[in-house]
Amino acid sequence: MTPASISFEGASVRYSGASRNAIENITLECEGGELVVLLGPSGCGKSTLLRTVNRLVPLDAGRVLLDGTDVTQLDAVELRRQIGYVIQAIGLFTHMTVAQNIAVVPRLLGWDGATSAARVDELLQLVGLDPTAYRDRSPNRLSGGEAQRIGVARAIAAKPRALLMDEPFGAVDSLVRTSLQRELIRIVRELRTTTLFVTHDVEEAFRLADRIVVMRLGRIEQTGTPEELLAKPATTYVRELVHAADEVYERYYLASRERLRGSPP
Ligand SMILES: Nc1ncnc2c1ncn2[C@@H]1O[C@H](COP(=O)(O)OP(=O)(O)O)[C@@H](O)[C@H]1O
Ligand SMILES: [Mg+2]
Repeated sequence: MTPASISFEGASVRYSGASRNAIENITLECEGGELVVLLGPSGCGKSTLLRTVNRLVPLDAGRVLLDGTDVTQLDAVELRRQIGYVIQAIGLFTHMTVAQNIAVVPRLLGWDGATSAARVDELLQLVGLDPTAYRDRSPNRLSGGEAQRIGVARAIAAKPRALLMDEPFGAVDSLVRTSLQRELIRIVRELRTTTLFVTHDVEEAFRLADRIVVMRLGRIEQTGTPEELLAKPATTYVRELVHAADEVYERYYLASRERLRGSPP
């Protein structure tokens, strides 16, 4: 399957009663297979922008296109089945096993039991968990990091065209976080799923991104590769933000990016 492109054309959202737009005239193109990070402080509109893609938040102006088709032209349920969505409060169903959680979308799509079961085992392996040990477990018996892995497995179970991730690793400790970041890069590489990843963590952004979109007060401040943001920050805001990343760059980027990402495909 060819990876999806996601484009925003002058996208704006104003919540009722708000004095300014939560996102303001956002124009952005994400190519198929790209991992794009939305970076900025709390309240700058990252989650709102993400949620316009799967239509959890409606636009007040502009358009969002999935492979060139306005998402409002697509059936919302169908759209959400094609787009994986991972949030911090992972929302695993506690009355189901791990395997049943992962197979939610495949079951909705009518996959037969054997195909689903094989896919569940494949996904558990993909996110670094032993299928035999985990498939029949209750979500109540998982650590935060394990639950987050299951959340990722569930989101990608039916090979979505695109993946939306909203601060998915925010609640896990830094060691687990690093290993989840590593897994994510590998998974996105393997599946070539177009991914929009939200974080307020500069270091995380620099580790993961093909491109970073720096947001402030609902607007895009600058879009560029980590290298471009470091070399040519467009504004003082970006300069100060990536200055904090300078050290990150020295400490992690040059060494770890190679290690985390491997060589380009
Ligand atoms: N459901 C909502 N109703 C009203 N205002 C909201 C809602 N969700 C977010 N906002 C406001 O919109 C702005 C952007 O929020 P959000 O997209 O959640 O930012 P971020 O994800 O970057 O923290 C903030 O001012 C926030 O208070
Ligand atoms: Mg948010």
